[in-house]
Formats: sequence, C-alpha cells, structure tokens
Amino acid sequence: MKKTLLILVASIAFLACENNVEEETGNEQNDTPEQNDPDTDEQSEVCDTTISFSDDVKSIIDTNCIGCHGGSRFPDLRTYENISINAQNIRGQVVSRRMPQGGSLTNDEIELIKCWIDSGALDN
Ligand code: HEC
Repeated sequence: MKKTLLILVASIAFLACENNVEEETGNEQNDTPEQNDPDTDEQSEVCDTTISFSDDVKSIIDTNCIGCHGGSRFPDLRTYENISINAQNIRGQVVSRRMPQGGSLTNDEIELIKCWIDSGALDN
C-alpha cells in the first residue's frame, strides 16, 4: 500500500514537472527578450503596423549597424534594398541579440525592427 502511494506521488510530481517544462518552452517561442518585464510584455504583443522605415528603422540601423555593415562586411546595411533583402536574417540577429556585435539595442528598438519586418519590411 505504501509503495502504491509513493508511486502515485512520484508520478504526480513528474506530471507537474512536465507541465511546467511545456509551459516554459511555449513562452520562449512567443516571447521577445523582454519576458522578464511584464510592462513591456504587453506592448510586444501589439505590432504597430505604422512603423516607418525612413522615420524609425533607418536611424537605428545607421546608429548601431553601419559602423560594421557599411559596405565592407556582409550584409551591407546602407540602403533600403539591402536591408529588405536581408530582413529575416536581420530580424534573427537582432531578436536574439547577436547583433549589434559589441553593442546593444533597447527592447523598444528591437521591437520596432521586429515589427517593421513582420509587417512586410516596407519602404515607407
Ligand atoms: C562591431 C561590428 C558590428 C556591428 C556594430 C554590427 N555587426 Fe552584424 N556582423 C558583424 C560581424 C563580424 C558579422 C559576421 C560574423 C558573425 O556572424 O558574428 C556580422 C554578421 C551580421 C549578419 C549576418 C549573419 C549571418 O550569419 O548571416 C547580420 C544580418 C547582421 N550582422 C546584422 C547586424 C545588424 C542589424 C546590426 C545593427 C543592429 C549589426 N549587425 C551590427 C559585426 C557587426
């Protein structure tokens, strides 16, 4: 009888654990790097489709990327054409914070670039 109880408790603990793991991995896929901050979390779910390349995105890239990606290193990020061709690559690098190398973007800047690309990386 004791043994059965033990097994029962153990399997409940195991199941509870498994549920937690699933929850966590689910969150990771959906969340952007601000997952520790509940305030920015709300914003990250709403993508503002009025983000403008020339008003918002270009200045972030000019300030944070052109120093290295100004022509001599792939990808060249000086023009809209090159940025839009490499949009998915840029998105991956920025969201994972691999880029900018040696620097960093704010959560808002990352969100802006991500949303602009998710909205079609328009020349707007
Ligand atoms: C200090 C220099 C430096 C800065 C600043 C920098 N990068 Fe990079 N970037 C690199 C180097 C070096 C590589 C190639 C090696 C690597 O992937 O780490 C690279 C590679 C890349 C790649 C190609 C990755 C691949 O493997 O295909 C992309 C896309 C990229 N950077 C985007 C950006 C963006 C966007 C910014 C600005 C937010 C940025 N980088 C800022 C140095 C830099």
